[in-house]
Order: sequence, then structure tokens, then C-alpha cells
Amino acid sequence: MANLTSSTALPVLLDCDPGIDDAFALAYLACRDDVKTVGVVTTAGNVSQDDVLRNALGLTELLGMNAPVARGADAPLVEPLMTAEETHGPHGLGHAVLEECGRPDSRSGAQLWVDLAHQYPGRLVGIVTGPLTNLALALREEPELPRLLRRLHVMGGAINHRGNTGPTSEWNIAVDPEAAHEVFEAWGKASQRVVLGALQATEAVRLDEKHRQAVAQLKDHPVGAVLADALQFYFEFHQADGLGWCAYLHDPLVVANAVTGQFAKTRPLAVDVELTGTLTRGQTVGDELGRWGKEPNVDLLCDVDAEGFIEHLLTTLGGWVEGPSSGH
Ligand code: BDR
Ligand code: CA
Repeated sequence: MANLTSSTALPVLLDCDPGIDDAFALAYLACRDDVKTVGVVTTAGNVSQDDVLRNALGLTELLGMNAPVARGADAPLVEPLMTAEETHGPHGLGHAVLEECGRPDSRSGAQLWVDLAHQYPGRLVGIVTGPLTNLALALREEPELPRLLRRLHVMGGAINHRGNTGPTSEWNIAVDPEAAHEVFEAWGKASQRVVLGALQATEAVRLDEKHRQAVAQLKDHPVGAVLADALQFYFEFHQADGLGWCAYLHDPLVVANAVTGQFAKTRPLAVDVELTGTLTRGQTVGDELGRWGKEPNVDLLCDVDAEGFIEHLLTTLGGWVEGPSSGH
């Protein structure tokens, strides 16, 4: 990988809810010398805002990432927060628990979105791997965000695919459906489409025992032990959930695709979120037949090269031993 200076590296803002797979996504970004993570925003989701913030501060500190970490909203726009300790562990990182360290940026998560979009006009790549609460709040502050960002990438939704939260809803959208609706609607009015990694794409990334062992061998990586303990818990959860001894690693695929353009193809689709359904609230509905008469607002990830991606992820994380990168 070329050793790029921070002025040529791709500026990335990650809005996340770490979260086991979010932790892998952060570690992946820190290993890339062609990426400069210029901000991290935390969204309450997998666990409470206090926990996701502590995890993001701890991980970025251990990873030597010199990026502001801003505390996002404590709860979704409309409904009370739901969390997923059974999936991600009591504090969000499975069997790993991080010490309190570092200080959050003085700005809110929404403000950091707005400030960074203005600081890097047309250059900032926004990636959301949690609920879309902060981005929706930022949009209310700065409706020009879809035009200010270079591109927005989101892990969320399930298009013509069963949910992983409700029968038809995926976690990140189900936590804050109103926020997701506002984001999809705003991008629908812009020329840029949201790059969306929904479950049918991210569930192709299914780690098995040999991958778990490879992560357990990341001994020289500053968060190797954290990732190994977190992944062990994730495997235990997936097994208890009837999915076998494995783990779906959703978020890193979306992040890697955002910074490399690889590991999946895309197809355009008009997507909206069901807000009022009595059985289907939080479902992402894709208008495959164009019945709404709306232009596509999403580029949906499809045809995932899961094997290639998992190898790339493990190689990238394992590459840490060669020394820190400017992605820090
Ligand atoms: C998404 O929900 C969370 O549990 C994961 O971190 C991922 O972002 C998958 O549905
Ligand atoms: Ca997540």
C-alpha cells in the first residue's frame, strides 16, 4: 500500500455504535495508509451512548487514531432506545471491556458531521455503521450535506430479505426508522445516491472457526486481544441464535467497500422505510418495479466477493506489525 500523506489520503468520518463489528471496522480504517479518519461519531444502538462512546474513545486511543470522537444522540428521534447486549455483550465488545480513556470532542455528533463536511467540501466520505440518528440531526442543521459529502455509505436494511431484528427489519434501521427515512429522503433529492450495504450483502461475510483463529493470532495488533475476545462472544451469540459456530461481520464490508470500491457490485434502487406498519415498522422497502415513479436514491451492494473480502480484512489487520500508518 502506498504511504500517502494526510493531504492526499481519503478523509473519512465514521458514525458507529461499537459494537463488535464496528470495532473491526475502526481497526480496519486505522490500518489503511490511504485513509485519514478525520472524525468518529458515536450513536446509541448496540449498547447505550455511554458504552459506545467509551468503546470508541478506547479503541481510537489504542489504535493511535488522531481523530476527534464526538458523543452523538443518547436516543432515537422518536422512540425509546433499544439495545442489543445479548448480541454484542454487556458493554458492546463481547467479552472485552475497555477502560475509560480519552475525552470526547466538545461538539455534538451532529455538529461534527456538519463541521467536517464544510472542512472537506466534496471530499469527505461519510460512513454510518449504526442507527442514522446523528446524521438525521445533522441534516436538519445542514440540508446541503448530500451535496457537501463526496459519498455516503450506510450499513443498514434488508431488501427482499428477512430481518435480523423484527421479521422484516434490520437492526440499524429498526432502532431509528424515522432517522433512516429522513436520510434516504434527503439523498433522494440529491444527485448522489447512498451506497447501502443491507443484510443480504453483509450476511455473505460469515466468519468461520479458521477466521476466528486467525483473529486470535493478531497478537502484535494493539487491539488484537480486544477483537479476539469480542469475536469469541459474537460466535457464541450466533450459535445460541441457531446460526451455527460463525459470525456475520456486517460493518467492515461496508467500510472496506467505501474506501476501496471493491468486494461488491452495486445496483440502483429507490428505497424507503416503513414507519407505520403494525408488523413491519422499520422494514426497508425497495421499489423494484418503479411503482413510486421515484429516481433511485440508493446504490445497493450486491454480488459480494465474501472470500476475497475476508482475506483482505485479515491481511489488512495482520499488516499492523509492519508499523503504524497515516490512517491513524
Ligand atoms: C448491524 O446491527 C448491529 O448489530 C451491527 O453492528 C451492524 O451494524 C447489523 O444489522
Ligand atoms: Ca454497527
